[in-house]
This record gives sequence, C-alpha cells and structure tokens, in this order.
Amino acid sequence: MKAKRPSGKALHPAISSASAHTQSPDLEAGSAAHYEDPDYYCRTYKSRLEDVVFYVDRAKQVSSVLELGCGNGRITLPIARAGTPIVGVDLSRAMITDLEARLAEEPADVRKRVKLRVGDMRKVRERQRFEQVICPFNAFLHLYTRADVEAFLDSVTRCLAPNGELLFDVSIPEPLELARKPEKLYRTRPFLYPGMGRVKYGERFDYDALKQVLHVSMEFEPPNAESFVTPLTHRQFYPQELEALLHYNGFRVSELVGDFIGPPSESSRSLVFVAKQRTKQSR
Ligand SMILES: C[S@@+](CC[C@H](N)C(=O)[O-])C[C@H]1O[C@@H](n2cnc3c(N)ncnc32)[C@H](O)[C@@H]1O
Repeated sequence: MKAKRPSGKALHPAISSASAHTQSPDLEAGSAAHYEDPDYYCRTYKSRLEDVVFYVDRAKQVSSVLELGCGNGRITLPIARAGTPIVGVDLSRAMITDLEARLAEEPADVRKRVKLRVGDMRKVRERQRFEQVICPFNAFLHLYTRADVEAFLDSVTRCLAPNGELLFDVSIPEPLELARKPEKLYRTRPFLYPGMGRVKYGERFDYDALKQVLHVSMEFEPPNAESFVTPLTHRQFYPQELEALLHYNGFRVSELVGDFIGPPSESSRSLVFVAKQRTKQSR
C-alpha cells in the first residue's frame, strides 16, 4: 500500500496477503481489508435491511440461487431461511469462515439449503445451473476493469439456467462525493468497535477519475491501541456504461429498480440491475 495511506498510519492489523486479486496492491487491499473483520462488518451494516427484504422476496420466486460475493451471509441466510437453496461464493476466507459458524447455529433444514465456497466471482464454475445469480451490496464494484467485468459475466453465463436472471445492485456515482479533497479527513462520531472500545473515526476519499476508482481510507483511533487504516476501493460505474457492458456481453436489462423500492428516479442512490441473457429476438 503506497499512496493510499495519507495519514501514514498502519494498515488494518488483520489484512492478509492471500487474495486472488493480482492487479495492484492498492486494489488488492481495497477489495479485501474491509472484509477481514466480520464482527465489525455485521455491526456496521446491521440496520441495512431494505436490500435483504428485496433479495429474499426475489429469491422466493425461484428454486435455486447462486450468490457471488456472499460475504458472511447477511443475505444468504435470510434467503435460506425463507426456503430457497443457495450456493454462496466469496473471496474472503474470513467472511466464509464466519458464515460457516453462523450457519452451524441454524436449524437442520436451513443448513441443508446452503453450500459455501471460497472463490473468485470472476472464475466461478459450478456443475449446477441456477435460476437466479445475485451479487448484492456493491460487490460488483470490486470489478475494477473491463476484463474483470467480462470474466464475472462469463461466470454468470456459465452458471445461469436457460431464462435465468442476474440481479446486482450498485451505488450510483455521486459527483459531490467524488469531488472531495483527498487530504481532508471527514470525521463522524466515535463509536464502539467490537473488542476495541470507543474509537475515533474518519474517512478520506481519493477519486481516480481516469480509472473511475474511488479509494476510501477509513481511519480508526482506538483508545488503547495503535491507530490503523482500512482501505476500501470501489469502481464507479455509470448506469449507461453498465447497460452497455451487459449488452456487449450477451445480456439485456429486463428491469431496473431504484433504492430497492421501484422505478428509478434522478434521486435514486442505488440501482438494481435485473438482466437476462439476450436471445436472437431481443438483440
Ligand atoms: C459489500 S460485501 C457484500 C457481502 C454480502 N453480499 C452482503 O450483502 O452483505 C462485498 C463482498 O464481495 C467480496 N468480494 C470482493 N471481490 C470478490 C471477488 N473477486 N470474488 C468473490 N467475492 C469478492 C468481498 O469479500 C465481500 O464479502
């Protein structure tokens, strides 16, 4: 990690070097570090529920789901509890290990519906074909280049059943956020970090406009330990760009949902893309 440590602080203590990302150390750390501490992840996103409701509702309409970038099961487990068998794949061993532990606490019928793998969503090969492939909560934003997106869509194509659908959601790029000064620390209120007590917290944002990649540095100052930085790196995709990427990789957008509630508007913060494979008739 070179340039993306503006404060010169240590990186998150749990960052491992084992990752399939080989593009650059910055991108590798930015797609792994935030997921090395599953307890912190759960605590941070515990009130994010609208996407869980959305994906569970959609999964109830099919008989098999493949989740790419399943994390530690925020969406995987509710889908399985609602009755649909699901296979989850994630690059982070820490997240999958945590999900395995959570799954072990579930009743037998739920346990039977879930299969988990550590793996790269750009290289997924499954014997089974799925009616639905999902990639929730900005996991798609860890696809930094056209080659990454094409490899991901190739995985999806290989795994989808005929007439199956791909669903993924992304935050829409927000010009004011991308224009923030990289040297400025945006502080929020201190909060309880699992196992560390009340930490001071702030974020820095550094946008690479040519690569369309936003580097976020999350800075933590625990009361009784060394300060550390967790990087999080997100590609920024514009809606028309995504439509084109899907189109030229053999998909058509069958539905767009804004903020998980209905037709998108100019004030929507996130978009769900629902895509199906193109047929000769739909070209
Ligand atoms: C924001 S989390 C979303 C997790 C889960 N879907 C949820 O909604 O809570 C993004 C996940 O994508 C995973 N990820 C990043 N790059 C990946 C890749 N190339 N293949 C598989 N998983 C990846 C991360 O490990 C992380 O668990």
